[in-house]
Amino acid sequence: MTLKEYLADRAALVDAAMDAYLPPAKERPSTIHEAMRYSIFAGGKRLRPVLCVAAAEACGGTAADALAPACAVELMHTYSLVHDDLPAMDDDDLRRGRPTCHKMFGEGMAVLCGDALLTEAFLVLSQAPSNKRYVTRDYITELAETGGSRKLIGGQVMDLEGEGKKLTKRELIRIHESKTAALLTSSLRLGAMTANATPAKLAAISDFGYNLGLAFQVIDDILDVTQSPEVLGKTAGKDQAVEKATYPAIIGLPAARKEAARLTKAAMGALKPFGKKGARLEEIAAYLLKREY
Ligand code: IPE
Ligand code: IPE
Ligand code: MG
Ligand code: MG
Ligand code: MG
Repeated sequence: MTLKEYLADRAALVDAAMDAYLPPAKERPSTIHEAMRYSIFAGGKRLRPVLCVAAAEACGGTAADALAPACAVELMHTYSLVHDDLPAMDDDDLRRGRPTCHKMFGEGMAVLCGDALLTEAFLVLSQAPSNKRYVTRDYITELAETGGSRKLIGGQVMDLEGEGKKLTKRELIRIHESKTAALLTSSLRLGAMTANATPAKLAAISDFGYNLGLAFQVIDDILDVTQSPEVLGKTAGKDQAVEKATYPAIIGLPAARKEAARLTKAAMGALKPFGKKGARLEEIAAYLLKREY
């Protein structure tokens, strides 16, 4: 299977599972269920759930066993985007090629939609199958730590508080680790956990996720400067306008590109313990470095 086919195939599995997990759009109160489905099925890349499934497969597990955590991480990710776009945060009108949730449904409903998606993430995660090494509680702890004020929320706080300030590279890395790398890492770890991964494999997958996650946000920041909103499906040039702390702003575009390449290489290096079974994850890392949206 080519990488393109693999990504499409695994994303389709995730979408079918997601459709079954989410309340039907018509279920009352229908506005919230329509809003949840609007944001989830808006055409995101499904990177985190695909990484979750790919990590499970790299550890000898199955896509089927990884689908609950895969949907859970996409639910958490989508909630974070719905809230990230709110006028009180990044104030964006375009997401995944469509008007943002609050543009479609109003601010109050977008706040509630984010709340509901986040709660749904844990409901879905509670369905993940236990095995010899990992039980439901381990999955819940993993995702709760990542979504909390020490990681994702903390990163979003530092991102907001960093606007208009000259941060050091060290401070910027802290933001990226928290707001982006943590959820990418947990996506991979949860997949590996459903595959009953050994502690050594889980450590390797975490190392891969950390470096891939940092690279991912550096590239997101580069694309914000270099890409059009039509291709991105979200506003471009916004980071500069509000003086966000980003790699291109702090070290310039060429150095930011080098940093993304270095981090991607480091991520690939972490895959050694997987041998041939790491090939798909390596391919995904290479693809993400070259991505255009
Ligand atoms: C965007 O994530 C937010 C970041 C953490 C950089 P993605 O680029 O994965 O967004 P979707 O899911 O494809 O819309
Ligand atoms: C968002 O980072 C990270 C999270 C939502 C946790 P950005 O604000 O850079 O994401 P985009 O560019 O709006 O997708
Ligand atoms: Mg933001
Ligand atoms: Mg944003
Ligand atoms: Mg961005």
